[in-house]
This record gives sequence, C-alpha cells and structure tokens, in this order.
Amino acid sequence: MLDIQNIRADFPILSREVYRRPLVYLDNAATAQKPRCVVDAMTEEYFNANANVHRGVHFLSQQATDLHEQARETVRRFINARSTAEVIFTRGTTESINLVASSFGQAFMAEGDEVIITEMEHHSNIVPWQLLRERAGIKIKVCPITDDGRLDIEALVSLFTSATRLVSVTAVSNVLGTVNPLKEIIAIAHAHDVPVLVDAAQAAAHAPIDVQALDCDFLALSGHKVYGPTGIGVLYGREALLEQMPPYMGGGEMIGKVTFEHTTYNELPYKFEAGTPDYIATTGLARAIDYVSDLGFDAIQAHERDLTAYALRQLAEIPEMRIFGPADAAVHDPVISFLVGQIHHLDLGTLLDRLGIAVRTGHHCAEPLMHRLGIEGTVRASFALYNTRDEVDALCAAIRRVATMF
Ligand SMILES: Cc1ncc(COP(=O)(O)O)c(C=O)c1O
Repeated sequence: MLDIQNIRADFPILSREVYRRPLVYLDNAATAQKPRCVVDAMTEEYFNANANVHRGVHFLSQQATDLHEQARETVRRFINARSTAEVIFTRGTTESINLVASSFGQAFMAEGDEVIITEMEHHSNIVPWQLLRERAGIKIKVCPITDDGRLDIEALVSLFTSATRLVSVTAVSNVLGTVNPLKEIIAIAHAHDVPVLVDAAQAAAHAPIDVQALDCDFLALSGHKVYGPTGIGVLYGREALLEQMPPYMGGGEMIGKVTFEHTTYNELPYKFEAGTPDYIATTGLARAIDYVSDLGFDAIQAHERDLTAYALRQLAEIPEMRIFGPADAAVHDPVISFLVGQIHHLDLGTLLDRLGIAVRTGHHCAEPLMHRLGIEGTVRASFALYNTRDEVDALCAAIRRVATMF
C-alpha cells in the first residue's frame, strides 16, 4: 500500500492553491508533477558537478559524465534493455519516434513500403510517418478501433502485406486510457518478420516495462510523464537494428573521425546523440526512476487501478455522462475522457478549473481519433500515484455543480 499523504508531501506543488481552492491536479497524462528529490538532484549537479560530459579530462567533467552514464544504466534497468548501447537519450517520445521514422525509414523503407499505425495514436506517432511519406513515398496503414475503444486485432492482422516494414503502436491511449495487448501485437508482427515500435509515453509511469519480455524492437518514452524533468526522453532500440541505421543528426559526440572528405560515426548509443546532451535532465530522470522504483509498481498499480475503477464508477453516476474508452477497468489506465450532455468540453474544463480542478480539454493531440469518435474533443482527467479518492469525489462534485449551471 502507498502512503499517499507522505507521498504527497514529496511534491511541493500539490499543496498550493488555485483561485483560493486546494489544487486538484488531474492532468498527469500531459505531464506529471515532480518530487522534490528530482529537482534537488538537478540543483545539486548544477551547483556541484556541472561540466560538459564526454569531453573533458578534468575532474568535474568526469564526474558529470559518470552521473550521465549512471543515469543511462538506471534507464537500462528500468526498461530491462540488454545493454546501455540500446539506450539513446532524446528530448522525449516525439523526438524518439522522429528518429526512428527518419533513420529506420532511410535504412529500411523505400517507395511503396508500408508502416502500420492505429486510429488511437498521438500526433507524434502519425506526423513523423507522414513526413516520411512525403520524403520517400511510403504508405501509412491505419488499424481501426472497436466502438468500445480497443484495437481491432482481426483488422490489424489483415493489414499486413509483403510491403509492411514496421508497426508503430501506442502502449496506452492518451485519450481513451486503453491498454493495448502489446505482446499479442508484437507476436503477430514478428510472425511477418516486421519489427514493432512501442510508444510508451503514457505507459511508463503506470506499469513496469520489460523490453526483452515484450520483445519489442523500439520503445519511446518521455521523462516528464514519469515524474522526471522536461526535455529528456529515451529511445530503446534493438542493437542489431540500431547498428544498421544511419545517424539522425550530425555534430559533436556522434562522430569517430572527421575530415572534410569523410566522417566515421561513434559507437552506439552515441551515434544517435549529436551535440551536448541534457546531462542535468538525465540525472533528474534517473532520480525519478529511482523514486518510482522505490515505491514499486505493484503498489503503484494497485493504487491507480483502484482509483481508475472508482473514478469510472463515480463518473458513470453523473447524469448525461458519456465516458469514452473501455468500460473494463482492467484494460483502462488512469486516463478518463468524457463529455457531459451538450456542455462543450472547453466550457466544462474552464469551469472545473475555477473550482480548482486541473483537467485537460480538446483533442489531446489525437485529432484522427476525435474524427473516429465523431466529436471535437473531450474533457480528460488523468491520475498519478499521488491522487486520491477524495480528489475523484471533488472532480465529480465539481462536474455536477457545473452541469447545474447549464
Ligand atoms: C501517447 C503519447 N505519445 C506521444 C506523446 C508525446 O510526448 P512528448 O510530447 O513528451 O514528446 C504523448 C504526450 O502526451 C502521448 O500521450
């Protein structure tokens, strides 16, 4: 069991007020709040160990490099990669997917080749493939969802052809909360010799990730959604694939030898890390991972599943409530999208804000999914390990109050 009150004390922002009301922060799918230890670790490095990494012979540079490479090892353990060569630091999920689209695209995809994505993808797992389509003439195939917001696995199976080169799929929908059956999807793809990229942006804070058990080929995540700092993320890639892929960006760090005629590239993972990395953020990310790991995913999942099931039940009792996504809490991560009657999502979100409740409104960077659902947007409440049933009650009471105003 998590000691939620103690945990909340680790997150200074949770005790602030907005509009003279206690903040109820339910926008965790957009970004999670940061425990003090994460910010402290970054401040400590700035004040005591700041120097550019990998470049200096001096003491501080060595210390900063050690911290940075220890962070890589922390990430490796967190996702159970075989080696730190497979752990590339990026700015976040978006950059990780763009890296794969660009570099894997260049190495393995030509005109007419196909990538399979799904109807529930975030724009960051749609647009990079459209850019590749413009550059290289690839085709994008889209796996549909069922009416209750799950992937249509039969339809997925029928999308494979001899031209399929990659499946790129989210682990969890940032709108519907749907937890996708990754192992099944990956097994289907591998039966066709097709690698799979997993967008774990929404998954990483809520369940353990084991890239070896999943057998995925790429996996992308963002530090800021796992209680870490902004501007840092991870791309996991299978070493054999990464070895065959060209660099994504050129510059310092990613080179072996440079002459005006010819440049050789550094070994993995540095081949994909041009320029000064955000080594302060990698320290913060490692501290965030330690924080989550110390609490343990068993306890986090038990708490968040209880909260999700409770919220689904309580919300469903509100008149004219429409919840999007699976009704089954077992396949529903703590992300709940809804609409109430004819109230516009923006109005509802704005009025909830005035009552101290921070939710997100709009298309959530998933416009094609909104088209599929036949709506413009939703209100989205998303929970983290520090949220409570009292906050779910506060949300429901506030929704009822707003509804009476319409
Ligand atoms: C499913 C999913 N994929 C990708 C992203 C993009 O993450 P970032 O903006 O951190 O790169 C998000 C962010 O909300 C997301 O929810």
